[in-house]
Amino acid sequence: MRTPFVAGNWKMNKTVAEARDLVFKMSMQLREIAGVEKVLCPPFTSLVAVSALLEGTDIGLGAQNMYWEEKGAFTGEVSPPMVKEFCRYVILGHSERRAYFGETDQTVNRKLISAQTFDLTPIVCVGETLDEYESSRTREVVARQTSQSLRDVDPAFAPRIVVAYEPVWAIGTGKASTADNANAVVKDIIRPALAELFGAETAQAIRVLYGGSVTAANAAEYFSQPDIDGALVGGASLKIDEFAAIVKAASK
Ligand code: PGA
Repeated sequence: MRTPFVAGNWKMNKTVAEARDLVFKMSMQLREIAGVEKVLCPPFTSLVAVSALLEGTDIGLGAQNMYWEEKGAFTGEVSPPMVKEFCRYVILGHSERRAYFGETDQTVNRKLISAQTFDLTPIVCVGETLDEYESSRTREVVARQTSQSLRDVDPAFAPRIVVAYEPVWAIGTGKASTADNANAVVKDIIRPALAELFGAETAQAIRVLYGGSVTAANAAEYFSQPDIDGALVGGASLKIDEFAAIVKAASK
């Protein structure tokens, strides 16, 4: 009953001209694939151009971040209403934002509450670092990130949230988590934390993705897991055939 979901996180890649070229070609393949919610998340600078190209398609557009305030003296930031002009989705709390730009569960939570206010569908990222993984702290870290980042959300809004489990050690490393391990984290740590926040029924309705070195070759393994509802794809989302194959693997 959870619709599969695949989002491409382009990170800090592609000029506007490059983005146009990529999306023009990619959308021809993606629009043929039904039964999966598809989202592209280019950099802010390409949102205008990409939104024009996606008009009339069933491919959604997302931002990779935003600030929580509506407007004002916040040099360099982009507000929820600005994102909302072009996007239905926004990635929040990606591990690169947590590691390089000082984001915490508290700031992620403020952004999430703001996404709720401005009617954006958030893709909230959680995941342990290599150090935390090796010292067997996955449960503690992922449970904390989930319950802190998603606290004080209106239970009516909760089913809109998409959670992405992205172990930091698997991102961009080619060392993907095994599908079994990823499913176990979602089933035994993330969904119970969601159930504590919103109740068991809502916890079952929320889509939870896996992210970290997902490729066309390994995607189907994740999607066959009962608790994994799709993927947040980085590197492979910049390759047309590769990303289309991942989306296809998720379609039901
Ligand atoms: P990757 O990145 O697919 O390149 O590992 C995933 C992500 O950071 O969302």
